[in-house]
Amino acid sequence: MASQTRYTGLIDKYRDRLPIQSDSTIVSLGEGNTPLIKLENIPKEFNRDIDIYVKYEGLNPTGSFKDRGMSVAVTKALEERSQAIICASTGNTSASAAAYAARAGITAFVIIPEGKIAHGKIAQAMLHGAVILQIKGNFDVGMKLVKEVASKSQVAIVNSINPYRIQGQKTAAFEIIEELGFSPDFHCLPVGNAGNITAYWMGYSEYYAQGVTNARPRMCGYQASGSAPFIARKMIDDPDTIATAIRIGHPQSWDKAWQAKEESQGWFSACTDEEILTAQKLLAEKEGVFCEPASAASLAGAMVDIQSGKIPSGSKIVCTLTGHGLKDPNIAISQSKTPMITIEANLASVQAALKERTDVRRSPSSPSDGAK
Ligand code: F0G
Repeated sequence: MASQTRYTGLIDKYRDRLPIQSDSTIVSLGEGNTPLIKLENIPKEFNRDIDIYVKYEGLNPTGSFKDRGMSVAVTKALEERSQAIICASTGNTSASAAAYAARAGITAFVIIPEGKIAHGKIAQAMLHGAVILQIKGNFDVGMKLVKEVASKSQVAIVNSINPYRIQGQKTAAFEIIEELGFSPDFHCLPVGNAGNITAYWMGYSEYYAQGVTNARPRMCGYQASGSAPFIARKMIDDPDTIATAIRIGHPQSWDKAWQAKEESQGWFSACTDEEILTAQKLLAEKEGVFCEPASAASLAGAMVDIQSGKIPSGSKIVCTLTGHGLKDPNIAISQSKTPMITIEANLASVQAALKERTDVRRSPSSPSDGAK
């Protein structure tokens, strides 16, 4: 018989902190419990005493942080006897909604901006069997349509305006405090629709109010400069960035995100697409961590603020890496300068290639080192 004690996801772990009925059918794919990785090589480049951890949310079941909220939102949709869920999405929410709806045996309708969704995310929504509606408009237009249609039909919205999504996502802050044993000084994350910054602040605040931690981090929300309503301090109609996940001009959790920023004495700041791609590449090349471009905005922004001294020496920082790099293979391949070397399929050719291209990043240790 299967063991009853295995880890089955965050509702199992944090049930007493989530609004779930005792007789509820839990919809879970084992989300949460993601690695908090301490960066070893990138911080050396700053020549300062700064600890940077990345919360690698790309290792959730569908490859993004959305799964935390989706597990709770779809569990509640079943409790409320919904037969269908709907969302507008820049990609990850649609992949997550499609997967959790498949698991629950209900229909997912997803509205996505035509031509602006990374390939991995579309592949997921398609294979999980979502009904995919591409619109000739951006995420913000899709969000408006979702709200209109849900007010007239029996379908549950699973965007982050659904409060259960925020409840599920707050658990990432719990995990960080439990793992570190304290709250970081700064929490850096990309901001699009602004649900996640709201959720982290809720999670940190809940543990703080209950004395689990005696401090809360300053929340640092980073946006792509072409898509930065929080920096403009007003909604924008034509957002654009290579980080398509955060290509949003009318964030839904506007007030709550400002509240998180104000209460935590944090800030919003913008990074260029170039800075975002540089940070994505640095993480991949120097740390072995592969995230999608939008995720890298957290580190890109942190790096600028470390260099300027806004984040001072002695700080402990957590950056959320919201989605896996495999979500957007096209960007990764087009950014990489690593050549593909075509050779004949024989040993001599392989040996010749090895000889020519022995990695110069790490010189081989001397025989005496090896003998130690
Ligand atoms: N990073 C990634 C990889 C995302 O997919 C998103 C949002 C964000 C950051 C921003 O999070 O919206 O809570 O501020 N993606 C949504 C989607 C909008 O439809 O997948 P946020």
